[in-house]
Amino acid sequence: MEVEQRVCNMKIIEITILLNIFLISNYGGLQISAQNTWKSFSGDKIIEHKVDSVLKLMTLDEKVGQMTQFSCNWDVTGPVMKDSYELYLKKGLVGSILNAYTVDGVHKLQEMALKNSRLKIPVLFGYDVIHGYRTIFPIPLAESCSWNLELMKESASIASKEATADGIHWTFAPMVDISRDPRWGRVMEGAGEDTYLGSLIAKARIQGFQGGSDWNSLSNPNTLLACCKHFAAYGAVEGGRDYNSAELSLNTLLEYYLPPYEAAKDAGVATFMAAFNEIGGVPCTSSKWLMTDFLRNQWDFKGFVVSDYSGINELVYHGVAKDEKTAGDLSANAGIDMDMSGSVYCKYLKNSIEEGNVSIEKINNSVRRILEMKFLLGLFNDPYRSLNDKSQKEKTMTPEFLEVARKTAQQSVVLLKNSNNFFPISKDKSITVALIGPLVKDINNQIGAWSARGNTDKCISLYDGLIKKYKNTQVKLLYAEGCNLTGNDKSGFDKAMEIGSKADIILVAMGEPSNYSGESTSRSNIQIPGVQTDLLKELKKLNKPIGLVLSNGRPLDITWEDDNLDAILEGWYLGTMSGYALADIISGDCNPSGRLTMSFPRTVGQIPVYYNHKSTGRPLPAGKSTARYSSCYTDISNTPLYNFGYGLSYTTFAISNLKLDKIIMTNGDKIKVQMDVVNNGNYDGETVVQLYICDLVGSVTRPVKELKGFEKVVLKVGEKKQVNFEISESLLAFYGLDLKKKAEAGDFVLWVGFNSADDNNKAEFTLK
Ligand code: BGC
Repeated sequence: MEVEQRVCNMKIIEITILLNIFLISNYGGLQISAQNTWKSFSGDKIIEHKVDSVLKLMTLDEKVGQMTQFSCNWDVTGPVMKDSYELYLKKGLVGSILNAYTVDGVHKLQEMALKNSRLKIPVLFGYDVIHGYRTIFPIPLAESCSWNLELMKESASIASKEATADGIHWTFAPMVDISRDPRWGRVMEGAGEDTYLGSLIAKARIQGFQGGSDWNSLSNPNTLLACCKHFAAYGAVEGGRDYNSAELSLNTLLEYYLPPYEAAKDAGVATFMAAFNEIGGVPCTSSKWLMTDFLRNQWDFKGFVVSDYSGINELVYHGVAKDEKTAGDLSANAGIDMDMSGSVYCKYLKNSIEEGNVSIEKINNSVRRILEMKFLLGLFNDPYRSLNDKSQKEKTMTPEFLEVARKTAQQSVVLLKNSNNFFPISKDKSITVALIGPLVKDINNQIGAWSARGNTDKCISLYDGLIKKYKNTQVKLLYAEGCNLTGNDKSGFDKAMEIGSKADIILVAMGEPSNYSGESTSRSNIQIPGVQTDLLKELKKLNKPIGLVLSNGRPLDITWEDDNLDAILEGWYLGTMSGYALADIISGDCNPSGRLTMSFPRTVGQIPVYYNHKSTGRPLPAGKSTARYSSCYTDISNTPLYNFGYGLSYTTFAISNLKLDKIIMTNGDKIKVQMDVVNNGNYDGETVVQLYICDLVGSVTRPVKELKGFEKVVLKVGEKKQVNFEISESLLAFYGLDLKKKAEAGDFVLWVGFNSADDNNKAEFTLK
């Protein structure tokens, strides 16, 4: 009965809207669009008319309300709004709610808005669905190491299915911030240091969330609006300190940091989020240059822009606004359409418009953009979207979703070191393995930060994964926790030593607690915390082979571990299926294929360290790791401990017969690059063939090399495949001295290999 009543209410709204379309079409209402610069996201005339017809009915208060997002609290009954917010909601003065989910919770709040408000405009529910909703996938940094765009798209799509079933319409993902600083805890949420790969991953994730790259897909109730964040260059915060200023040159901004945001726009992302940081003295939240000149005018972005959480209020602390009212004026004029949780717009914007500080035209356009998304999601037809579809609820953590999560987890693991074939620990071996460390039985950390409604109880521990894997085999497992993740307690060392001494090999599971990465988790020391490395030092005295399974949300300083342990498996936080995926890799049932997307420094003093750096006027002479009066450290090599693109396998691969179909490129033609890749080792496996290019001379300096293509190749033992790349002029384009993006004639070097430091296969070509 209730459902019918709601449907009936919505029909009335729809009829009102249609009636208005008619009136507006016939009595000049369309002039609203004709007279302003609003360009709709969909380009669909019917939707444009609907948007304008609703806009026409709205009071100024209601318009400002659409530009307002409130965050809700939680009590035992689910999401609840503060009393004052509830009042706003009932008056139709809230456009969006953050952090409300669950079928009943969202239903209740939506109903509150629809039943009581004048125009019954549905509310948009947003939540951070970052790497899964119920089924938790590897953290985004880990997932990026799979270099598997299809899988990333699929995991985002599954996250959308689960989140929409719980009432969510909008996720604040993907984070496409390039970062070269592992001290920044938010690197866990991104795709690493590379612009080319990061741009492709941005596209894959957006298509996964939104169901495709065109707006039509948004009407499918299983899709979420995606949000490209944090615009711009949040990953460049100085010293890796969260919320800090980003200090970077225009060249670096244009060349490395902006392209993934532009790729997100090209992929049809519905919304953008402004970054907390400033660039060049202007906070992004008040930057007309970024939000309007770039995003709207140059890139032609037609969706809407939300501030980050209280980002508008923070303009006062940045020192560009004397009070919150001025902060609101600056943001609205810069192009921020929605105020996330700051209550600035709702308190002051109406006055500002009346005083002429912000034009009504600006407000109308912001509201249009927000309303359009609500139309595209189908909320005006059914404000409860998938909530009434009972079958949706059953589509959570299905065996199919879990299988994708396991596969994604397997492909995210990166084998960093493997002396004397420590791994795999084959099921056929007759061997005793001591499992030691605080993460062996852990389930609380494996789902990582930003894990939505992921349930740690559903997470598979490494221990459970291994017990299942080695059941009924000759592999005997012993266990001791040894120590905690943090703190100084060494009381578990003795037991760990006792277990270790009884075993043939020692497998240790250590790392960072999951709350050491994510928002507000910058660290100046990125070594393994607590007494974990002390325990490793003790275990080493047993003179047994030691392998380490790491869990962490950022590249760590593991120089000691690299020098002293036999094997290191980078396991990140792999999500719900963590233990099974790790056991698949450890046993050799699955051959690791992950490749790093962010360099591991040798020590924090080396940060930032990244593969696509500039040559400098005094590069190190070839083969030297330090040389007086060259650009280097006197005490450490310039190279990272593990470089971008790096990762081992249980087998080996080789490239041969590298051929270019021409070495002179003219008239916009393309060069075809061809090579053979062979699995010449003893296991079936998968590798990532990577193409890097260096532009030897430019009107501005160019990086020593840049990733320009890659392909994942699956090869059985002895199998050979041909891999092809194509080099076009646009692939060689960059921002030159005139700040125009184009390729410049000259000589280029290309390498194809298995990581960014692999220069065994090289060729040259010229662009005329
Ligand atoms: C973060 C955003 C996030 C938002 C909403 C902010 O503090 O910086 O990335 O989407 O909160 O939770």
